Amino acid sequence: MTQDELKTEVGRAALQYVVAGEIVGVGTGSTVNKFIDALATIKDQIPGAVSSSVASTERLQALGIKVFDANEVERLAVYIDGADEIDHQGFMVKGGGAALTREKIVAALAERFICIADASKRVQTLGVFPLPVEVIPMAATQIARRFAAKGGQATLRFKDGQPLVTDNGQHILDVTGLAIADPAAFEAEVNQWPGVITVGVFAHQKAAVCLLGTEQGVETLE
Ligand code: 5RP
Repeated sequence: MTQDELKTEVGRAALQYVVAGEIVGVGTGSTVNKFIDALATIKDQIPGAVSSSVASTERLQALGIKVFDANEVERLAVYIDGADEIDHQGFMVKGGGAALTREKIVAALAERFICIADASKRVQTLGVFPLPVEVIPMAATQIARRFAAKGGQATLRFKDGQPLVTDNGQHILDVTGLAIADPAAFEAEVNQWPGVITVGVFAHQKAAVCLLGTEQGVETLE
């Protein structure tokens, strides 16, 4: 199976976690796009979704799924999203699609985070995928120096020749050279550096369940 087919399989498998009659939290990325396409087939069973990005909102609405503002919702039963890396404890690196801040906000409303990913995303230790960090632009160089002191190399993400601007109007640093042995401590530390909006380690909002697309079928890791 191709990686695209594995993503389709886990996107469809995630439908079993959608609770009829409840708004569902929806993440961002190519795997989530497969989930959104599958969700459209049962859209009459749910009031709608809370979305983590402009891109997902547009896809949901194009398929006739109502999108609620996160402020209208007190809790979600589930939040379904992809990952760039996931370890055996459900800790993740996210933000490859630059949507990490809104992803954390929507995940924080949810009782359970259901991660959907192809098998290439499973790792022993987080940090091989360049770690995305959303930052206030005027703090970018200062934050890069802090990562350098930890052995990391931070690079400003560009798109079309310009620094990428997130849905929140901010920038992204991608940090290589890190081995994140204690994801919860790392997340807590980096989060309090001035100018950091969100670090792409999801330890406090870790996955409760991971649906992993493999050649043998969809594996459920809990
Ligand atoms: C976006 C994300 C995505 O969930 C992550 O990048 C995985 O994307 P894909 O499913 O396309 O591999 O965190 O900010």
